[in-house]
Amino acid sequence: AVQVFFLLLASLSQTDFCHISVMPTTKAKILASPGANVTLPCALLSKDTVHFGSIGIRIKWTKVADDEALNEDVLLSMGFHKKTYGRFDNRVFMETEDPDSEDASITIIDVAPEDSGKYRCEIMNGMEDTVQDVTLEVQGVVFPYSPNVGRYNLNFDAAVKACTDQDAVVASFDQLFEAWRGGLDWCNAGWLNDGTVQYPITKPREPCGGSNNRPGLRNYGQRDKQMSRYDVFCYASALEGDFYWLDQPNRLTFDEAVQACLDDEAEIAKVSHIYAAWKLNSYDRCDAGWLADGSVRYPISRPRKNCSPTEAAVRFVGFPDKNQQSFGVYCFKAQKTVSR
Ligand SMILES: *[C@@H]1O[C@H](CO)[C@@H](O)[C@H](O)[C@H]1NC(C)=O
Repeated sequence: AVQVFFLLLASLSQTDFCHISVMPTTKAKILASPGANVTLPCALLSKDTVHFGSIGIRIKWTKVADDEALNEDVLLSMGFHKKTYGRFDNRVFMETEDPDSEDASITIIDVAPEDSGKYRCEIMNGMEDTVQDVTLEVQGVVFPYSPNVGRYNLNFDAAVKACTDQDAVVASFDQLFEAWRGGLDWCNAGWLNDGTVQYPITKPREPCGGSNNRPGLRNYGQRDKQMSRYDVFCYASALEGDFYWLDQPNRLTFDEAVQACLDDEAEIAKVSHIYAAWKLNSYDRCDAGWLADGSVRYPISRPRKNCSPTEAAVRFVGFPDKNQQSFGVYCFKAQKTVSR
């Protein structure tokens, strides 16, 4: 049976297509956070299918690169036979085991940023062949947060609320670790969602856990969730909407800033939005703007003179007096959700 299977696999590419329909999928772009299990949808279009007896429908999933030579095989399915390839081996499963099913959706386990890209699902049943593309985007951003009352003021519950208020969640150890590997260096300790308090150091130095220690996460361990007060590391996934600097002629107070975004059919942006736009969309703007928590920040992805000269960063100006008419504003317009 194994030999027959591989014979069939070899002949897959030579199948004569009677008809090919390329259909937009119900949701052409899927956003996911690192570590999640993600289902990529794909379904047969017409009901009047012709099957090849026990062979059933043949399904081929490919990760499509700009250069076709770099396409990666993900999964081949023929009847009860399934084969997964390369780094997708044992990480990809069909949603259904039924070989006659019309559902060709797959689930990828434990997605990583490298899994981002375009996936192509081909369903071949000999009569009507279906090709569907779906784009997966695996990304997120970790950011340190402390409220306007200043550093080290959050117990665990307040930390959870602080992140939620910014459209984010408390980061996990894995997320902070990934962010550290990506260069995050922050010398204030913050809560993680497992109840530990840690901080990431890429450039060891004396006040940050010692200059003799190696780079890494400095770990204070589990802390008393009620009594201990620290900052927090929040985690936000990619933006589902537009983050932008509002072009308007005036310097604004905080209340005017809130209203200006509303007048633009948007809302004043939250801290997670500025970090996601900066980190994931390389948003760069050297203008200080109000954000929803009353802070003023600006995102620099191309360091230059007078604009965060030494590093790409979201620059923190502070929590100014809300009546100070000195800043612009960053707005966020949520995407209309795509109905399935
Ligand atoms: C993903 O699926 C695997 C295998 O079914 C499971 O062990 C794991 O807990 C899942 N992870 C998440 C984040 O749901």
